[in-house]
Amino acid sequence: MKKIDVVASATVYDDVSELPSDVQMLMNKAVEARKQAYAPYSKFQVGVALLLENNQIVLGNNQENAAYPSGMCAERVAIWKASSDYPGVKVKQLVITASSINSVVDRPVGPCGACRQTLSEYEINQKEPIEIYFMGAVGKVVKSESLLSLLPFSFDSSYL
Ligand code: THU
Repeated sequence: MKKIDVVASATVYDDVSELPSDVQMLMNKAVEARKQAYAPYSKFQVGVALLLENNQIVLGNNQENAAYPSGMCAERVAIWKASSDYPGVKVKQLVITASSINSVVDRPVGPCGACRQTLSEYEINQKEPIEIYFMGAVGKVVKSESLLSLLPFSFDSSYL
C-alpha cells in the first residue's frame, strides 16, 4: 500500500485586466454569450468562448428547461457546437464566465464534473491540452493548463 498525492496546479489572476490581451478578448466574447443564456429557472448565467486552431471562436451558454434535467451547461453546448460545426478541429482555449441575477458572482466558477468529463474526451482525442480560464462575473480568474488536470482518475475510452 502506498499513498500518492494528486496535485493540480493553476494560475490565479487578480482580475481580467491581468490576462493576456487575446484572452481578455475571448473573455469579452464569453460575457456576451453569457448575457444570452437561457436560464429562467436558476437565474445563473454561464457563458463560454472556445478558440479553435483554425482561429474560429465558438460561443455557448447554458440552456435550461422546465423539465430541469433536460437543460444543458454552457460548456457542453459550446464544445458540442464546435465538434458539430468543425469536427476534428482542435480547441486551443476555453474561457468561462458566470453571473447570477440573485448575487454578484465574485469567485471563479469552474466547469461541473459532467462538463469536465465531456471536455476531457475532446482533449484526449486532439492530443493537445486545452487551456482553460474561468471566473465569475468579477474578480479572480483561474487558469488551468489542461482539462485533464482538473479531472484526476478520469474515465476514458481506453477502459472499454
Ligand atoms: N451551469 C453551467 O452552464 N456550467 C457549469 O459548469 C455549472 C452549471 C449551468 C447549468 C444551469 O443552467 C445553471 O448553471 C445552474 O446550475
